[in-house]
Amino acid sequence: MQRTIITREKRERLNGHKGIVLWFTGLPASGKSTIAHEVEKRLYEMGCRTFVFDGDNVRHGLSSDLGFSREDRAENIRRIGEMVKLFVEAGVIAITAFISPFRAERRRVRELLGEKNFIEIYCRCPLEICEQRDIKGNYRRAKTGEIKEFTGISSPYEEPENPDLILDTANSSIEECVDRVVNLLIKRGVLKEVTKLKNTLSQWGEG
Ligand code: ADX
Repeated sequence: MQRTIITREKRERLNGHKGIVLWFTGLPASGKSTIAHEVEKRLYEMGCRTFVFDGDNVRHGLSSDLGFSREDRAENIRRIGEMVKLFVEAGVIAITAFISPFRAERRRVRELLGEKNFIEIYCRCPLEICEQRDIKGNYRRAKTGEIKEFTGISSPYEEPENPDLILDTANSSIEECVDRVVNLLIKRGVLKEVTKLKNTLSQWGEG
């Protein structure tokens, strides 16, 4: 087997931060994707290497053969877990925004990644508010029966029992949520030499 010459530690040193997974979970329309992308924007401005994975870039490709049964959702999450494990190895801050409604699958991903590589962030928002928002019109379609096994309506969502962070996405501003995520990353020692990298970024006329 080919020996790895460039290790994760070397990549992390080059990047100026650790590789980690920020795993957002919550009901449809609870704000997962919005906050994930805003967190990415903030981290990018700080000079971090990031990538956001959500239904838009995974369900149409990697998981295009899967639907929304219990088994298919489990397989979707399993694949995403394996994929982001590689990104962590690459020293990237991988940000995922999937409903991931079942505790068992989220626990499996945590075990696969290991405690220090996995941060579970629960976007907590009452079902009624998610339904009111109904950005994609899916709650309406689920209620008429057009969409089957829809999370929150005809398929369960199991709240995290012990997430690393709870964001009250019904009452907090996006800005506030992003601040809390970034503060946690600093507290956990994921971001260290970010200011140095920020200077590098400004040389490119950005940031
Ligand atoms: S998960 O349960 O496997 O984690 P995932 O986050 O990938 O779900 O996909 C959720 C997205 O798929 C929703 O935002 C919605 O646009 C779409 N979708 C289509 N059918 C369903 C369904 N039955 N339940 C939930 N989401 C659905």
